[in-house]
Amino acid sequence: MLEAALAAGIAIPHGCRSGFCGACKGKLISGHTTPGIHAENALSADDRASGHALLCCVHAASDLQLEVPGVVPPSEFPSRNFPARVRRLERLGDDIMLIELQLPAIDPIKFHAGQYIDIVLADGARRSFSIANAPHQEGIIELHVRRIPDGRFTGEVFTTLKERDILNCEGALGTFWLREDSTRPILMLATGTGFAPLKGIIEHAIHVGITRPITFYWGARTPAGLYLDALARRWADEIPNFRYVPVISGDAPDWTGRRGRIPETVLADIHDLSAYEVYACGLPEMIKSARKRLTTEGKLFVDAFYADAFTFSTPPSAKD
Ligand SMILES: Cc1cc2nc3c(=O)[nH]c(=O)nc-3n(C[C@H](O)[C@H](O)[C@H](O)COP(=O)(O)OP(=O)(O)OC[C@H]3O[C@@H](n4cnc5c(N)ncnc54)[C@H](O)[C@@H]3O)c2cc1C
Ligand code: FES
Repeated sequence: MLEAALAAGIAIPHGCRSGFCGACKGKLISGHTTPGIHAENALSADDRASGHALLCCVHAASDLQLEVPGVVPPSEFPSRNFPARVRRLERLGDDIMLIELQLPAIDPIKFHAGQYIDIVLADGARRSFSIANAPHQEGIIELHVRRIPDGRFTGEVFTTLKERDILNCEGALGTFWLREDSTRPILMLATGTGFAPLKGIIEHAIHVGITRPITFYWGARTPAGLYLDALARRWADEIPNFRYVPVISGDAPDWTGRRGRIPETVLADIHDLSAYEVYACGLPEMIKSARKRLTTEGKLFVDAFYADAFTFSTPPSAKD
């Protein structure tokens, strides 16, 4: 259903496209679908009982009427397959690699800041990574890749991938981009490499001169996890209306800044979020908890919460 909708120019919110993140949830008003496989926490038994489905998993078995929140005007840049050459590899931390990809000189893909691409592996498996730069930086795509223990692709990134290698990609994908027609103040929330798409959005906002206040909360277990902390601090120094709040959740004896989890830190700072728009990216648990707590305890409007959850292509059970 998701593929058909996107092909028809109906941009249903989506993330993983594999039943893990829950972003493409819709309600069946009439008609029949054939069910697909999905993660239990992306679509609960209650959701199913109330007629909800994940549109990236189900197929239509009849004409359908669906109710889907948050449908946006489609991206004017349809996604497609393209080869990209690795132009630069740079370690941003023990387990974070920056990959700079050179796009083809002829007809390079266009994207909105915040979207992601899929790397298509030799057997057709896919791995998703957010674009960490803004589109005005022409011909280039920057990725921030966190190494996953025993991860097939991210393992290769840290061992065998080298400059000048070619990666097969598809993009740009997703609906995580800045709603530029809004005037609401912006809250950005990231854990770990969830920083990547927000970096792209912030660089885009600086480039086009967006003056809406932006408060950026970046969480990690240790200070080293804030792998471009100096860049975020520079934005805070240089950009009027930009505030940066780094938050550490693990043991870090020398850390003198904020501690805890992102949702509770935001709620401690701002009690009424009804005027805000939130862009959240990173660990699925953070996205889930932020969506729930900010919309209930913080009075954030449900349709003012935009997120990309970094779910993964290989469910844990598939490797057990
Ligand atoms: C829309 C989207 C955007 C993303 N953007 C980024 C990004 O910018 N930077 C980034 O670092 N990651 C990002 N991710 C997550 C990234 O796609 C996965 O980490 C990656 O697919 C892992 O590939 P792999 O082949 O190394 O691991 P696999 O071989 O697929 O997995 C190995 C094992 O680790 C588990 N696993 C895989 N990924 C994760 C994970 N992320 N967290 C915890 N356990 C995992 C698997 O269940 C499996 O058991 C994004 C995901 C999505 C859906
Ligand atoms: S569950 Fe459908 S896009 Fe993630």
